[in-house]
Amino acid sequence: MDKFVIEGGHALRGVISVSGAKNAALPVLAATLLTADEVVLERIPKVRDIRTMAKLLESVGAKVEPNNGGDGVRVAQITTPEAPYELVKTMRASSLVLGPLVARCGEARVSMPGGCAIGARPINLHLAGLEKLGAKISQEHGYVRAHAPKGLTGAVIHFDRVTVTGTEDLLMAAVLAKGETVIENAAREPEVSDLADLLTKMGAQIEGAGSSTIRVQGVTELHGATHAIIPDRIEAGTFLIAGALAGDPLTIAGVNAEHVAALTDKMRQAGVEFSFLEDDRIEVQAPEKLRAVDLATKEYPGFATDMQAQFLAMMTQAEGESEITETIFENRFMHVSELLRMGADIALEGHRATVRGRTELSGARVMASDLRASACLVIAALAAQGETVIDRVYHIDRGYERIEEKLSSVGAKIRRAQ
Ligand code: EPU
Repeated sequence: MDKFVIEGGHALRGVISVSGAKNAALPVLAATLLTADEVVLERIPKVRDIRTMAKLLESVGAKVEPNNGGDGVRVAQITTPEAPYELVKTMRASSLVLGPLVARCGEARVSMPGGCAIGARPINLHLAGLEKLGAKISQEHGYVRAHAPKGLTGAVIHFDRVTVTGTEDLLMAAVLAKGETVIENAAREPEVSDLADLLTKMGAQIEGAGSSTIRVQGVTELHGATHAIIPDRIEAGTFLIAGALAGDPLTIAGVNAEHVAALTDKMRQAGVEFSFLEDDRIEVQAPEKLRAVDLATKEYPGFATDMQAQFLAMMTQAEGESEITETIFENRFMHVSELLRMGADIALEGHRATVRGRTELSGARVMASDLRASACLVIAALAAQGETVIDRVYHIDRGYERIEEKLSSVGAKIRRAQ
């Protein structure tokens, strides 16, 4: 299993570029199931979750090939409308194929996702939504089956809580349903809007994506399209925090400033200054001193849960006490025990971590437990004295493209080892 060996304490200087967003690319790839034509996707990040989704598409009958600088996906025919256990167990987002498969062929079988490192994460809201659209849902042998031999019919779907992939799954189901679907309490994340943009290019009729009410007029068929994935706001945010700790200065290139506004607002409160340059570039310089600030994660446009771990690492370097509250997932503080091993002072109580800073971090052997917890450990290691070895970096490879190469190119001392 690969490890990262990181020597902390080096300044980060120069330009670091952001890749396409993993969490936008996953639903967009699933959307290719909705047409027999080719869909060409540009700026698909080369990360492990994307390879898993490509495998999943291939297993249901897709051909995925490079095409004119993008990835061409053509699903001429669906051979087996099934997401097998072997793929779903490695990536929960596999459930994104449920909606498009039922919409396209009236049938889907998807392995039930089990628990994962950050909580139970059920898909009950996806299933209740599909039922509203007329699918019959049953469960057998660890699989959920959605069945709608005569097609789906538009309906009003009200989500009891905001769900990102749930909104995306139902949006993909609704575009081919008969009549109008209204999704209420929809997720407003930029990744939902990006999916709606692609679906619209494919011929879907959607209004309100990016707001909490989405209206869809079903159409009978979708066609091919070309689409460039939005920049990854979480990767950009991770580099912004690395820059706030060691930037001298560090420029993050290819970032949509609006998508990271909740983060940059919080960072400003903590004493970090930014220069917003043209061409979607943000420059960040490590301030003399960081101040502790409190934060609670929220759905977009609030502070992203996917940035909580990295922000917490930054707070170990801030003066004072910071309260960090996680409201989206039940168990998303796995990074805390590893940070304690590096010398941080953090008290954990339920959904709240109290970070007392500033503490000197010292390099140690630590273990990555999930994707964003791993990013947090990389940030802590860059700020620590001496050498940190991070085990199980396959977690980080799920969602960050060549992070060690990108960070090395701006002065970090980080290498991959076996
Ligand atoms: N939930 C339910 N029932 C459902 C669906 C969700 O109870 O049917 C709960 C979840 O357990 C959670 C909350 O609702 O407590 C929100 O979950 P959501 O469905 O929004 O999460 P997700 O769609 O599974 C996506 C991202 C996550 C990101 C969350 C929140 C993708 C592929 N994944 O997950 O990204 O943390 O939204 O913003 O888009 C990551 O990239 O590291 C990552 C975990």
